[in-house]
Amino acid sequence: MRTVCLGGGPAGLYFAISLKRRDLSHDVVVVERNGPDDTFGWGVVLSDETLDNLKANDPESAELIRSEFVYWDDIAVHYRNSVVTSTGHGFCGIGRKRLLNILQDRARALGVQLQFETEAKDLEAYRDFDLIVAADGVNSRVRTSHADIFQPNIDVRACKYVWLGTNQKFDDAFTFIFEETEYGWIWAHAYQFDADTATFIVECSQATWTRAGFDRMGIDETIAACEKIFAHNLGGHRLMSNARHLRGSAWLNFNRVLCERWSYRNIVLLGDAAATAHFSVGSGSKLAMESAIALAGYLHTESSMEAAFTRYEDERRLEVLRLQSAARNSTEWFENVERYLHLDPVQLNYSLLTRSQRISHENLRQRDSAWLANAEKWFEKTATGRTPQVNHAPMFVPFRVRGVELKNRVVVSPMAQYRAVDGNPTDWHFVHYAERAKGGAGLVFTEMTCVSPEGRITPGCTGLYRDEHEKAWKRIVDFVHAETDAKIAIQLGHSGAKGSTQLGWETMDAPLAADNWEVIGPSPVRWSPANQVPREMNRTDMDKVRDDYVRAAQMAVRAGFDWLELHYAHGYLMSSFITSLTNKRTDGYGGNLENRMRFPLEVFHAVRAVWPEDKPISVRISANDWVGPNGITPQDAVAISRMLVVAGVDLIDVSAGQTSTQAKPVYGRMFQTPFSDRIRNEAGVATMAVGNIYEPDHVNSILMAGRADLVCLARPHLANPYWTLHAAAELAYEGTAWPRPYLSGRDQLYRLKARAEVMTGKV
Ligand SMILES: Cc1cc2nc3c(=O)[nH]c(=O)nc-3n(C[C@H](O)[C@H](O)[C@H](O)COP(=O)(O)OP(=O)(O)OC[C@H]3O[C@@H](n4cnc5c(N)ncnc54)[C@H](O)[C@@H]3O)c2cc1C
Ligand SMILES: Cc1cc2nc3c(=O)[nH]c(=O)nc-3n(C[C@H](O)[C@H](O)[C@H](O)COP(=O)(O)O)c2cc1C
Repeated sequence: MRTVCLGGGPAGLYFAISLKRRDLSHDVVVVERNGPDDTFGWGVVLSDETLDNLKANDPESAELIRSEFVYWDDIAVHYRNSVVTSTGHGFCGIGRKRLLNILQDRARALGVQLQFETEAKDLEAYRDFDLIVAADGVNSRVRTSHADIFQPNIDVRACKYVWLGTNQKFDDAFTFIFEETEYGWIWAHAYQFDADTATFIVECSQATWTRAGFDRMGIDETIAACEKIFAHNLGGHRLMSNARHLRGSAWLNFNRVLCERWSYRNIVLLGDAAATAHFSVGSGSKLAMESAIALAGYLHTESSMEAAFTRYEDERRLEVLRLQSAARNSTEWFENVERYLHLDPVQLNYSLLTRSQRISHENLRQRDSAWLANAEKWFEKTATGRTPQVNHAPMFVPFRVRGVELKNRVVVSPMAQYRAVDGNPTDWHFVHYAERAKGGAGLVFTEMTCVSPEGRITPGCTGLYRDEHEKAWKRIVDFVHAETDAKIAIQLGHSGAKGSTQLGWETMDAPLAADNWEVIGPSPVRWSPANQVPREMNRTDMDKVRDDYVRAAQMAVRAGFDWLELHYAHGYLMSSFITSLTNKRTDGYGGNLENRMRFPLEVFHAVRAVWPEDKPISVRISANDWVGPNGITPQDAVAISRMLVVAGVDLIDVSAGQTSTQAKPVYGRMFQTPFSDRIRNEAGVATMAVGNIYEPDHVNSILMAGRADLVCLARPHLANPYWTLHAAAELAYEGTAWPRPYLSGRDQLYRLKARAEVMTGKV
């Protein structure tokens, strides 16, 4: 097969090698615009695991690469005159030029023809080749010339970076340096890649970059300015650039590339041309080389080129998406780093290490248990003011707000049960909430409990508007207080336009088959074409709703609830005032966000006035309508939270969505936690995270990184009321109180866990 690789970076060269390794009779040419030694960039990070993959493909080049590896175990974070170092991270690096020279030599030895200093311009020039591999990098000319077919999606990221090198030694740790300048924060990612040289990537926000005047500087001035900023980390060494081929100053924005299609006729995209991964997860070369192996492999195992391309794309797209998801988290962390720079160095470090969400709390324990133990100690001391004798995982550290102390930070999220009769909680509710309170969580929420009959979502929803409701709730609250050390919170809500609908397990959000009641809203905007058009509320309606909330709150006081939450999320009445998707009013309650918040704030103030001073009120919000800039965005959610905090709300319960049938949510593990993180660290308020959080490890990493103060789990508590007790057993934590009648069950569980650990060699 006659093959041409356009581009002689890691992708093009390694594909050429991989093809030849499978069949030496292939005729392979690599066309590279630069000379063999004048590549851009400095060192790249690879891993031993990647090298094992390379070794299975071509032991010769893998051995040479391994022999040149520089290893380091530590990550050091320099910040506000402190250096926090953790160990056990296990990286290795190699100079990009050295890597390419090894690959060039190996390709040559296998008979690949290397054409340097040759610009690939017109694909026509390669029409005699059976296969054209477009390995021409992130700005791929081939991809651009067939953009209608490959349909690249290019996301230009917000930060500016410049890839420099230095002879200063960073051989003891992968080093992050954060420097506060008069223009804003500027930071560096530095790591050694051979005996004398280290990579030194400098990065900052676009605003800082402009303020610092980098937009007007050539490369020499940029270098001089960066040398000054990082002078006390450079020990007198210079910074160096090898990107003089780039026009201007060599500062770039990272482009995240993903293509709809990766092949066309006999042309196939490879490496950065097909997909990129942000440098802060250091995996672009790895991705390129492993994709090269896959492509070469399938070209030999599949019956046709088309079939090979399909298998290649199917396999590698999955890997790319996985890595790009981690890379996106990491990129966004750096883009928003100024949000975290008020954190204590211990927490900043933790947040940095776990930024991609690929490394969890327990991973960190495996890497550096001493460091993590100190971090946990710091967390507990900061939270309680006491230095713990025995370390507690963050989830088991108490949380105090006003006069209420929660024994731990796990919360049973509000979950409608649809088992009420005329708003009255039944035996179902008694058993359900009693079980969750026995299960170890620090706080148990009731479902959305409605402030009036017409404010119910479904006929099965609980209410708090009649004496019998108050009595039934009091029975539940009394049990929780008498028999457990959990606290219990009531969530109050009004359904608005999403009311008069079917039970959760019937057709959700669809109107009742019969006996629908009138629904109200800020504007006559219905939930969906199948739903009723709500009647637009007038001031009398508002007075009634506010008074209904107050009456329910007074009943909740008498029922003895410890905590009250207002449900301002998920498209129900208050939420529909907040989002402009459903609030089209032209009076003082519609229009800008301040106006749209006016009624929800009025209700809050009225409720706060009757709720005991020593008991907290939280508010659940939808921090993202998931419809883009036309709805509530995470940025708006910060503004909403600020208004709520000024009004006196104690904690924001950060949910998202369910406000529009047009929403396009992006699901995933802990998918709403970034909104909680943003609100907590930008608005400076306590938050509760919720949404697809299901492992103790998730909970601990969210808390320890300062992404939330409490963590809500909903569905996991439906599957297992004793989630927290089991989490404690999993973490071998003995400090959780079990109900006394269940102690022998606890002892057996701990014994079995301990035995399993011994059997699996964990201890
Ligand atoms: C700052 C930074 C740090 C990074 N750090 C790491 C890291 O630590 N670990 C890691 O794995 N990855 C890292 N990467 C990513 C890595 O550099 C890329 O993912 C990798 O180089 C992709 O290989 P490639 O062969 O697809 O593209 P490239 O390496 O860009 O190679 C493309 C080649 O094609 C040539 N070319 C382009 N157009 C033409 C043309 N028309 N004619 C002829 N030749 C052409 C170019 O000269 C170039 O040599 C980093 C990237 C950046 C920007
Ligand atoms: C059956 C069920 C009922 C729910 N009812 C409510 C509710 O009454 N009030 C509320 O704010 N959220 C409600 N939710 C949303 C949950 O509180 C939670 O935000 C959501 O399920 C995501 O958390 P999870 O991934 O842990 O399940 C409900 C969720 C479920 C599964």
